[in-house]
Amino acid sequence: MLALQSIMSSWQIENFLTVRDGRLQIDGVDAVELAREHGTPLFVFSELRIRHNIDRLKKVADVIDCPLKLCYAAKAMSTMGILRAVKDAGCDIEVNSGGELWKALKAGFTGDQINFNGNSKEVWELELAITNEIYAIQVDSLYELSLILETAIRLEKPANVSLRMVPEIESGTHSGLQTAMLTSKFGMMPDEAFRAFRVYADSPHLNLNGIHLHIGSQNPDPQVYSAALVKLFDAMLQIFNETGVKLKHINLGGGFPVNYLRDRSHVGEFPREQLEMFDAGFEPADALRDAWAAVSESAEKENAIDLLEGMTLMLEPGRSIIADAGVCLTAVRNKKDRPSSDSSLVPRHSSPQNEVWLLTDAGFNILLSMETYKWYYHLISAERAGEPHDFPYKVAGPLCDGGDVYFDHEGHGRLPEHRFLPKDVQPGEVLALLNCGAYSLAQGMQYNGRFLPPVILIRENGTAELIRKREGFEDLIASDVNIKD
Ligand SMILES: Cc1ncc(COP(=O)(O)O)c(C=O)c1O
Repeated sequence: MLALQSIMSSWQIENFLTVRDGRLQIDGVDAVELAREHGTPLFVFSELRIRHNIDRLKKVADVIDCPLKLCYAAKAMSTMGILRAVKDAGCDIEVNSGGELWKALKAGFTGDQINFNGNSKEVWELELAITNEIYAIQVDSLYELSLILETAIRLEKPANVSLRMVPEIESGTHSGLQTAMLTSKFGMMPDEAFRAFRVYADSPHLNLNGIHLHIGSQNPDPQVYSAALVKLFDAMLQIFNETGVKLKHINLGGGFPVNYLRDRSHVGEFPREQLEMFDAGFEPADALRDAWAAVSESAEKENAIDLLEGMTLMLEPGRSIIADAGVCLTAVRNKKDRPSSDSSLVPRHSSPQNEVWLLTDAGFNILLSMETYKWYYHLISAERAGEPHDFPYKVAGPLCDGGDVYFDHEGHGRLPEHRFLPKDVQPGEVLALLNCGAYSLAQGMQYNGRFLPPVILIRENGTAELIRKREGFEDLIASDVNIKD
């Protein structure tokens, strides 16, 4: 019984995700009451957890011998209230489009706090970046550099740039999340970057301040950060030797993993690679301590330690700041029995020949990775969080699409076939999907005419504040023109 209890409660996080009177509490606020008041689906974020995650990343500053610039990757979640909470926690920002850049400025970030990535930038986006004197435009290609140069000359304002390189470092993450290989679409070859420094080192229109790479998201192996930092240093040294330019910053990207499997009830069901990816969870400061030791050794060998001391190290974490700070509350909207396709589960069923299907109101329209990458979000009952979760259900979302399910509909077994919840779940019961803060609402869509859900941010003082309202009918046609009544 004791063992069962510790398994059941391992998703809990002290002072953040807890159980009171049997119900899920988020920062001490009753999740079911929030769901009743605002409806479902509903995203609930914790400001305290965001701060906790940012503080954890700031510990990197203690293990490196140069200043750290932490830039939250806005693509992970960019509702204005979240951007402001991130800013108030003392973090700068990374954006990936003119739209995100505009939102960052509107949220109060100043130009020197903004770092702009992206592989298809348009001239209006470059103009916005240069006019606002942002810290760095991360350049994806030599063509893009020529566009930046033209724009800077026309605006009569120099552009701060940093070149994104292809380091060819493989990560054990999902193939769709790998971004540092030749086969991925991002960045330029190191030789191209060196050529750019040779040509433009003295340009009055381009401040070539840095170099950049991003290995991928949810990297399970901390060693990739050592390999990446050494690669960046090697490039930095070559640039210095060839042009005399001492870089102001090097940018190691984001990608620190979140442990999606704190609850262990399904670990035996994942294929090895999925398990390693979802079960990852090292301290960023530990990875960077090792990386700094590796890069210092290289620098000492080359007698170039002052190159490191004079620069800033940038990081662009998204997921590790926001994923576990967000919970998606969803209600069961429909229930049905179906003949079971999995005989191994038969003994667990009250009705042996059937399995029970639960249809929720949270589908891949708000949790896209669940379909594209077969991403795992742990599911619990918010109403009966303290009860044993030992009854298997087949769970699916509301969309008119066979892929809108909480298991691997392609049959590759990359997600558990069933989810465990208390016995006898009925329509109306509020459930909670955990670790849903990153790459969820940010990728949300109105597919099937579904309203994008509201967002609550639980403030440090425990107030539950609505920071985004639920969409309504008019939002579904807000951009359509020539509508006849
Ligand atoms: C260039 C860049 N930086 C930072 C990030 C953030 O990554 P993560 O959310 O895994 O920290 C991404 C996301 O893939 C990215 O493409």
